Amino acid sequence: MNRAWWKESVVYQIYPRSFNDSNDDGVGDIPGIIEKLGYLKKLGIDVIWLSPVYDSPNDDNGYDIRDYQSIMDEFGTMEDMERLLDEVHRHGMKLIMDLVVNHTSDEHKWFVEAKQSEENPYRDYYIWRPGKDGREPTNWEAAFSGSAWEYNEATDDYYLHLFSKKQPDLNWENPKLRTEVYDMMKWWLDRGIDGFRMDVINFISKDQNYPDGEVDAGKRYGNGAPYFMNGPKIHEYLKEMHEQVLSGYDVMTVGEMPGVTPEQGALYTGEDRDELNMVFNFDHVDLDSGLGGKWDVKPWSLVELKDIFTRWQHQLEESGWNSLYWNNHDQPRIVSRFGNDSEEYRVVSAKMLAATLHLLKGTPYIYQGEELGMTNVKFPSIEDYRDIETLNMYKEKVEQGADPDELMEAIYVKSRDNARTPMQWNGSDNAGFTNGDPWLAVNPNYSSIHAKQALEDTDSVFYFYQKLIELRKNHDIIVYGDYQLLLGDHPKIYAYLRTLGDEKLLVVSNFAEENIDVELPQEVEYETVNLLINNYYVHPEEDINSITLQPYETRAYLLK
Ligand code: NOJ
Repeated sequence: MNRAWWKESVVYQIYPRSFNDSNDDGVGDIPGIIEKLGYLKKLGIDVIWLSPVYDSPNDDNGYDIRDYQSIMDEFGTMEDMERLLDEVHRHGMKLIMDLVVNHTSDEHKWFVEAKQSEENPYRDYYIWRPGKDGREPTNWEAAFSGSAWEYNEATDDYYLHLFSKKQPDLNWENPKLRTEVYDMMKWWLDRGIDGFRMDVINFISKDQNYPDGEVDAGKRYGNGAPYFMNGPKIHEYLKEMHEQVLSGYDVMTVGEMPGVTPEQGALYTGEDRDELNMVFNFDHVDLDSGLGGKWDVKPWSLVELKDIFTRWQHQLEESGWNSLYWNNHDQPRIVSRFGNDSEEYRVVSAKMLAATLHLLKGTPYIYQGEELGMTNVKFPSIEDYRDIETLNMYKEKVEQGADPDELMEAIYVKSRDNARTPMQWNGSDNAGFTNGDPWLAVNPNYSSIHAKQALEDTDSVFYFYQKLIELRKNHDIIVYGDYQLLLGDHPKIYAYLRTLGDEKLLVVSNFAEENIDVELPQEVEYETVNLLINNYYVHPEEDINSITLQPYETRAYLLK
């Protein structure tokens, strides 16, 4: 296994809109991030992943980019961005940016040109198809509801948008477009950024036959995913991007990839394949989605979760590298999802989830507020929500006759706004995020859950994350050790063993709200035991072969 700085790092994701507002317009900004670098340094993270800060009309909060080479007014200026990068480096950290090149905003100058006529030089930067029998070219559904195609009067045909209609898909078949993207990437890398998180990067190559997708019972639109996820030329494009851009820099890359399997993940991240360092897969965060998709909430099982992690751990063991995440700006808060956000168990279960994830093999990602054990939110009305995916779904389903109360229940569990409520810095008005009117309301529990409290309490979730990060710096086994699942069928306990040379790391976590007795399997041999991290008191003389774990208890032992 080759060593690499990005394998030894912990990444912290900032969603700038919700992080810290320095000018009281209700929207987080870059100077606000700079104010908080000391906080991140204290936590101990190595790399910041910054969600998009580029100029954007904000149909999808910056994931609809109008100009890749300028900064959104609400967030600051290019000088602010340069200062941020300098300050991050001065603190001994790195910064990666979001690369959103499956689509642009419809207000990007390329699209403003392209839609004008068939002869326009930018026409082939996007994907155009004639209608079929007076309808859209295919039956594909967009991720944000409705058809994935929008009619354009000037050219009497349709453009593809896998997300909102203000996010037209770029045409990667066009070498000129690819060169523009590579030049833009180099422009940012030459300014000193340390890599990219690549938005839905496994969607960029489409099946050029554009077939209709299968239509599930009761559905109006078809599923186009088989024709754009991990499409025919995806590896070719990523290799080209590597050759033309990435190979010239010592940077890290992580590709967001809905629908990626472990086998494909091994191809994307294989060390000799010159594509990407890591991918974000969705298997574990799709666990609680039923056949009807993300809003069709279903119970999840720990055995399945363990099975998913274990498959990814093994598949990428020989060559490749895992990313490890519970949260990001699209996912509900993990303590509300796989833990327990009641007053009694919020802190212990947040710690248990942290240890279980960070001690797997891979690079851990922390999403802002996760280190405080921030929770999901239940706003009383749909009017309180801002996320385009949530709002479009609600509108469409209400029009189709769905019960609004049932929709709100699904929104409480799954809406992306659960992750996007402002960062809770202190117990003052608006959690210290802004003195203005926040763009999305603060979670009412900010009066007790906030960073100031966490920093004053040595037993807080914050310090538990800090310790996990520190352990990673001091124990190679956490980064490079092999992984083995223990007690695979146990419905409440997640136990695994990491091995490096003659060292072993044993991790045991209780996912249940009850005491559970655990017998260590015979195969785990050791002479000395050293407790590395725990979230309840542990008696120093305890015989670890047979232990009782309290609700949401977690422990990690170094064995020799
Ligand atoms: C994935 C991003 O994480 C999400 O926030 C965004 O809406 C879509 N890609 C489209 O860019």
